[in-house]
Amino acid sequence: MGIGTFVRHRLGRLEIPAAELYRRFFIDLDHLGGRIAALHPAKRILEIGCGDGALAQRLTTVFATAEYLGIDPAATAGRLYRGDPARAEFRRQDIAMLAAGQPDPFDLVVIVDVLHHIPAAARPAVLRHAAALTAAGGLLLVKEWARDRPVAGRLAYWADRYITGDRDVEFMTEAQLATLLGGTLPEFTRTTLAPIPPWRENVLVALERTTDSAGPGPGAVA
Ligand SMILES: C[S@@+](CC[C@H](N)C(=O)[O-])C[C@H]1O[C@@H](n2cnc3c(N)ncnc32)[C@H](O)[C@@H]1O
Repeated sequence: MGIGTFVRHRLGRLEIPAAELYRRFFIDLDHLGGRIAALHPAKRILEIGCGDGALAQRLTTVFATAEYLGIDPAATAGRLYRGDPARAEFRRQDIAMLAAGQPDPFDLVVIVDVLHHIPAAARPAVLRHAAALTAAGGLLLVKEWARDRPVAGRLAYWADRYITGDRDVEFMTEAQLATLLGGTLPEFTRTTLAPIPPWRENVLVALERTTDSAGPGPGAVA
């Protein structure tokens, strides 16, 4: 457990405001939720790497009738979610386990601030599973922090390394992210959208499935 998580868990009623304040320094999740809602309608949403449920809270608000499923390898998946419990489900599960159950595809799949926590060699397989679970005509959204600028680009690294406590965190440049997504998900039309405030490091990429083909399975990309 990182020092940030250790401290947060001891804050009691102040934990949610403190977590929100910390996250808000890096990203305006309300803005992100609104942007996502404006992009695509959704009845079934999958969030891969849902964390404590901060984005889930926004997604179940802006998609007022959608069903939401959040998965995360952490035991604390959805722990701070305070939205409608009837429409949100959180599972301690990885994407390969979820995909093995062959659930119906989702019309919106989101991966927000997660890829940099996954070893580079494992990212393509995660993206291929995400692609396979995105319905025809559906949208896969990836939001990452780009490390292009020397100081601002390193901010999230320092926070994740020393406050969150992830020793293996590894950020991409915007070009590396584009190469990863383009090479791994060729059947998707890719659009990089305007950055999410307050930092231009917050890169949001929309990937639209333009064919019915699910493409090659996760094993197809090393
Ligand atoms: C910064 S949090 C993002 C939480 C949420 N997406 C949000 O924006 O509020 C990153 C999350 O990625 C999760 N994670 C790490 N490795 C993962 C993997 N292989 N698959 C899915 N999630 C993973 C971590 O457990 C953590 O909860």
